[in-house]
Amino acid sequence: MRPLIILIGLVIAVLLVATGVKRLFRMGMQQGYAPAQPIAFSHKLHAGDNKIPCLYCHYGARTSRHAGIPSSSVCMNCHGLLEKQTVEIEQFKEAAQLDRPLVAWTKVHNLPDFVYFNHSRHVLSRAPEFPSGVPCQSCHGPVETMARIEQVTELTMGWCLTCHREHAGVPTNTLERAAKRFSERPKPATGLDCASCHY
Ligand code: HEC
Ligand code: HEC
Ligand code: HEC
Ligand code: HEC
Ligand code: HEC
Repeated sequence: MRPLIILIGLVIAVLLVATGVKRLFRMGMQQGYAPAQPIAFSHKLHAGDNKIPCLYCHYGARTSRHAGIPSSSVCMNCHGLLEKQTVEIEQFKEAAQLDRPLVAWTKVHNLPDFVYFNHSRHVLSRAPEFPSGVPCQSCHGPVETMARIEQVTELTMGWCLTCHREHAGVPTNTLERAAKRFSERPKPATGLDCASCHY
C-alpha cells in the first residue's frame, strides 16, 4: 500500500512542477494580456483618430529586429506645439526636459529568449502574398482601435508556423526569386526549419 501512495504522490508532484515550468515559460506571453501603462497612451487617439503612421513612432520596425518604443523626444515633436495639457502630458514633457527616459512602459509582447524574431524581415517582405510587407495588424490586431494595447494573437510556435506554411515556398530573397523563375522544382519553404527561429 505504502509504495503505491508514494508513487501517486510523486506523479502528482511531477505534474505540478511541469505545469509550473510551463506557466513560467508562458509568463507575459498570453493572448489578451493588456496591462495598465504608467501613462495612458492611446493608440486609438494617435494611430486611429489622428492617423499617425505606425512607423512614425516605431521606425525601428523597418530597419531592425526591434520595432522599439519611441522616446519622449518623439512625443515632443507634436506635444511641444499642441495646446492640450493633462497631468500625463506634463509628466512626459518634464521627462523630455530633464532628458530622462520617458516612462517605464510595461512590455506586452514577449517571446522567450531562445526565439529569433526580426521585424524588418517581415515589414519589408515583398512576398507575393504581402506585396507591401506583412501588415502590423496581421500580428498585432487592430491596434489603431485600441485605447490600451493588448496582445491579440497567440505568439506561439504553432502560430508562427501556420502563417509560414500558408505562405510556404515564398522565396526569401532576390536570388531565390530569380532561381525560382528558372526552375520548376519547388523551393524549400520559408521559415519552417528549426534553425530559422532557434539559434
Ligand atoms: C505617437 C506614437 C505611436 C504611434 C503612431 C503608434 N504607436 Fe505603438 N506604441 C507607442 C508607445 C508610446 C507604446 C508604449 C506604450 C503602450 O504600450 O501603450 C506603444 C506600444 C505598441 C505596442 C506594444 C509593445 C509591447 O510592449 O509589446 C505595439 C504592438 C504597437 N505599439 C503597435 C503599433 C501599431 C501597429 C501602430 C500603428 C497602427 C502604432 N503602434 C502606432 C507609440 C506609438
Ligand atoms: C510577423 C509578425 C509581426 C509583424 C508583421 C509585426 N510585429 Fe511587432 N512584434 C511581433 C512579435 C512576435 C513581437 C515580440 C518580439 C519579442 O519579444 O522579441 C513584437 C513586438 C513589437 C513591439 C514591442 C517592442 C519590440 O520591438 O519588441 C512593438 C512596438 C511592435 N511589435 C510594433 C510593430 C509595428 C509598428 C509593426 C508594423 C510596422 C509590427 N510590430 C509588425 C510580431 C510582429
Ligand atoms: C504626430 C503627433 C503626435 C505625436 C508624435 C504624439 N502625440 Fe500625443 N496627441 C496628439 C494629438 C493630436 C492629441 C490630441 C490633442 C487634443 O485633444 O487636443 C494627443 C493627445 C495625447 C494625450 C492626451 C490624451 C487625453 O486626452 O487625455 C496623451 C497622454 C498623449 N497624447 C501622449 C503621447 C505620448 C506619450 C507620445 C509619445 C510616445 C505622443 N503622445 C506623441 C498628437 C501626437
Ligand atoms: C502573418 C504571417 C507571418 C507570421 C504570423 C509570422 N511570419 Fe515569419 N515570415 C513571414 C513571411 C511572409 C516571411 C518571408 C519574408 C521574406 O519575404 O523574406 C517570413 C520570414 C521569417 C523568417 C526568415 C526565414 C528564413 O528562412 O530566412 C523568420 C526567422 C521568421 N519569419 C520568424 C517568425 C517568427 C519567430 C514568428 C512568430 C513569432 C513569425 N515569423 C510569424 C510571415 C509571417
Ligand atoms: C517560425 C519560427 C519557428 C520555427 C521554424 C520553429 N520554432 Fe520552435 N518556437 C518558436 C516560438 C515563437 C516559440 C515560443 C512560443 C512557444 O513556446 O510556443 C518556440 C518554442 C519552441 C520550444 C519550447 C516549447 C515550449 O513549450 O516552451 C521548443 C522545444 C521548440 N520551439 C523546438 C523547435 C523545433 C525542434 C523546431 C523545428 C522542427 C522549431 N522549434 C521550429 C518558433 C519557431
